[in-house]
Amino acid sequence: MAFSNGYPFTQRHCLSISQFSRPDIETLLTLGEHYLDLSVQKSGESKVLTGKTLINLFFENSTRTEKSFEVAGRRLGADVIGMAVAHSSVKKGETLLDTAATLNAMNPDMLVVRHGTSGAPALLSQKVSGSVINAGDGMHEHPTQALLDALTLRRVIGGDFGGLRIAICGDILHSRVARSNIQLLNMLGAEVHLIGPPTLIPANVDRWGTNVFHDMETGLQGCDVVMMLRLQLERMSGAFVPSKREYYHYYGLDRTKLAYASSDALVMHPGPMNRGVEISSDIADDPGISLITQQVESGIAIRMAILHALSDARDMQS
Ligand code: NCD
Repeated sequence: MAFSNGYPFTQRHCLSISQFSRPDIETLLTLGEHYLDLSVQKSGESKVLTGKTLINLFFENSTRTEKSFEVAGRRLGADVIGMAVAHSSVKKGETLLDTAATLNAMNPDMLVVRHGTSGAPALLSQKVSGSVINAGDGMHEHPTQALLDALTLRRVIGGDFGGLRIAICGDILHSRVARSNIQLLNMLGAEVHLIGPPTLIPANVDRWGTNVFHDMETGLQGCDVVMMLRLQLERMSGAFVPSKREYYHYYGLDRTKLAYASSDALVMHPGPMNRGVEISSDIADDPGISLITQQVESGIAIRMAILHALSDARDMQS
């Protein structure tokens, strides 16, 4: 393996942060750093997936994740096929497993899946012969987002997350991004603060190894990084917040609230952002504070790393 750091990466799928060991994560982040260099991304030597096929199967909307897997796959030399679910037989009532069987017959080497149901990518991974990558499943996990966030922080803060205090704020209840990030940040040694209204904090949160706060002023104290989350209205069955305006007043990140955190605190957001609901434009667009653009750049690099590592692991095992 060209990128090996001495530890054999043997994972065949990328379904959840919990499946990875610390050395697995180090392998992916180190390879991700390698791919951050645009000249490396675009060089012929990076075409390690030439002759391989990647299918993007997105049952939920996506801009960043879908496109970055497409770009990552192409830069590695793979044939990338986008399955537009809106135009596929899924809309005619085909079940997930029938769709999987059809796609499997096309022999893709990799299947990138986003689905509204938790566990759908894991189920598919048992039915297809290629690698399955979870690009977000319901409220469960979004492992590649957590990895790209860690890569982004490694770029600016360095490799050691010990002693780092990170706040994750907003709609924790519906957020697969939060669930993956909490596991990864805990594994890397950071201290995690969750901040949100009681209605948007899950009941089992005491098992997550985090500190929970219901107001920004206390929760943001001493935080080096502030991750904001979108209010996932599409996953809400009732009214979880009185109004967007009131939510912004208490939990929207503006300069006043950011001042509660460390004086050099950095801000992240997985996107898509709702400006004026969870974050002010003033903060989101300030390049001295906001890492949002860098998160998108890291997204391509880490997805190249994941595709490369899974493909090598599979080749070694077959
Ligand atoms: C997130 C998602 O889809 O889970 N977006 C993303 O992948 N960048 C977060 C969100 O939709 O709010």
